Order: sequence, then C-alpha cells, then structure tokens
Amino acid sequence: RKRIGILTSGGDSSGMNAAVRSITRVALQRGCVPFAIYEGYQGLVDGGNYIKRLGWEDVRSLLAVGGTSIGTARCADFRTREGRLKAVYNLITNGIDALVVIGGDGSLTGADMLRAEWKGLVDELVALGKIKEDECQHLREDLTIVGMVGSIDNDMSSTDITIGAVTSLHRICEAVDNLTSTALSHQRAFVVEVMGRHCGWLGLMAGIAVGADWVFLPERPPPLDDARYGDDWETEMCDTIKKYRSRGNRKSLVIVCEGAIDRQLNPIKADYVQKVLTERLHLDTRVTCLGHVQRGGTPCAYDRFLATVQGVEAVEAVLRSKPGVPAPMIGISHNKITAVPLMEAVQLTHAVGEAIKKKDFARAMELRDPSFTA
Ligand code: F6P
Repeated sequence: RKRIGILTSGGDSSGMNAAVRSITRVALQRGCVPFAIYEGYQGLVDGGNYIKRLGWEDVRSLLAVGGTSIGTARCADFRTREGRLKAVYNLITNGIDALVVIGGDGSLTGADMLRAEWKGLVDELVALGKIKEDECQHLREDLTIVGMVGSIDNDMSSTDITIGAVTSLHRICEAVDNLTSTALSHQRAFVVEVMGRHCGWLGLMAGIAVGADWVFLPERPPPLDDARYGDDWETEMCDTIKKYRSRGNRKSLVIVCEGAIDRQLNPIKADYVQKVLTERLHLDTRVTCLGHVQRGGTPCAYDRFLATVQGVEAVEAVLRSKPGVPAPMIGISHNKITAVPLMEAVQLTHAVGEAIKKKDFARAMELRDPSFTA
C-alpha cells in the first residue's frame, strides 16, 4: 500500500485544489493512503501537524476553490541539506514512500533533489540514531516522486499547458475588457503589465484574445522583423499604434510581460512605455499593473478538468514507479495526458533562459511549447 504525500509548492495557481482532490480520491480508490503536507516544503521540514492523513470527505467541495487550501510557500529551509534531512525524517516517521508535488520548475527540481539524496539522508538519520533501522527498512531504497505542473506562467517545457495558466489568462482578459470601456471613452492608451516571470505566454495569449496593439515578450524582443527599425523599438511601436489610430481606433493597448526585455536584454518597463507613448504620440496614457489579481479566484472549467485527469495519471505513475527510474512529470500534449521524465522537462525549460542570455531569440521561441510558436 503506497502512502502518498501531496504538497503544493511555489506560487499558487487555480486548479491546485482540484489536483489535491483528484490525487486523494484516486489514491483511496487504488488502495493507497494519501496525506496532505501543508504549507509546501515548509510543512515537510516542520512535520508534526503539517502532515495529515486525508480521507474522502476532506477534499469535498474543493473543485471550485481558487489557490491551494493545503497552503504553499517558497521555502528557504528546504534548500539546505539540514532542512532536507528533517524532511526525510518526517516522511519516514509517517511511513510516506511517495510524494506528488504540484508546483513550478523550482519546486519539481527540489523534489528530484530530495530523491537523489534520499538514501544518503536516510543512512545519516540511522547513523545519528534518529530513526531505527527496522523502522525504515522498506522505505530505505527509494522515494517515489511524481511532479504535476501548477503555475500560471505556463513556462514548463514538454507540456502544452500548466494548471492555472488558463484561469489566469481569463482573469487578464476580464481585467483588460474592463479597461477597454474606459479607454474608449477617453480615447486613452493603456499599458498593462502582466505576470509570467520569464515566459511570455500569458501576455501573448492575452494580447491575441483582447486585440492588443503591441505586446512586449521576454522571448521575442522588439524590433520585430522589419530591418528598417534597427534596434529602435520605440519608433516601431509608435508607428504601429499611429497606424491603428489613423484607422479609427479610439484606444490603444500595450501589454508588457513582467520579464519583457529589449534586444540588449535590458528590461522593458510599463512606466517607460507610458513615457514613450505620451511624449512621442501625445496619447493620454495610463499604466495598470494587474499583479496578483491575475493569480487569484475561482478556477475555470479547463483547469478543474486538467488537474483532475492529471491527478489520476499522477497516482497511476506512483503505482508504476520503480527504483532508479527517472521521476515523471505529468503533462498534456496534443490533448493526451502524458508522463515525461521530470528533469528532462526542467532542463529544456532552463534552456530557454540560456538561449535568451545568448540572444538566440529564435531558439528561445522554438524551445517554448508548440502553442507558443504556432
Ligand atoms: O510563478 C508565478 C508568479 O505569479 C509569477 O508570474 C510572478 O513572477 C511570481 O509568481 C510572483 O511571486 P510572488 O507571489 O512570490 O510575489
């Protein structure tokens, strides 16, 4: 009987609760024992009341609840070996031999690191006399790890979409639609900053969905394909907006991703874009930073569905797991739920950042998922 710890880690995303519910109920149906680990890796390090066995009723009515009801954290303690030693102690003493982690690339990398160190840390605990040899015999060999990707950023490679990204996209579109009526009334320009860290998915998809005039992305800095502009994105952006205005557009909308950069890798900030539009086009321009509004709220149907079906696969992956086989990450590709090697996906994700650092923007776009490069 596998005893499965479930934790959510990193920035919350809508649909994480649906994932916890699904893993719990499928685990019970498959004869496993599910545990909630509260407050992400911090709960794993602190143990005690932060680790609780879950029953069928404990996850009732979670589908429509945003964020993560078992809590999350960005945990500094877990980054230390001492913290991970405590985590192993808490897993062993609760008899937990599998961990399903729902989070972004950093959180999933942490899980893989714990697994890599597992045997050494268990041996250390035995040597220190903190756990008895017979207490951990069956757990000593390996810790089963399965990753699920919960992140609004949709920045993980090897999966088309991450849990929470579509809900966040809806939040952004609702907010921008609200800005549109006031922008039209005053013939104003709005510069809207959206989250996404170093990934432009949210900004690009929102730009398409709301009909933005211009979107600043991390992976594809301006100027775009028109060689006449050289490195002068300001003129290219202003010419484009002027053209749309001359066709009768009463408002202008520019989306700036939080990780947007120019071709010299300098950040492009919303306030600076406002200055350019005001000074060069004399547009009455306002900045709106959507902030955490775009991360909160009830999950859309797609995120509830995605998290639920991926939760089923996560438990199946736990049951299939074998010592020494790389940990899987549950994804979705061409509408099929997938299980791909976790660290390969993380490495491909990091390769995007490397390509950007080398100013190889074509490669960065290519490395992003298919929906991005379409
Ligand atoms: O990764 C999710 C995310 O919302 C990013 O888009 C953003 O950069 C970051 O988390 C914000 O983190 P915090 O909630 O810790 O301020």
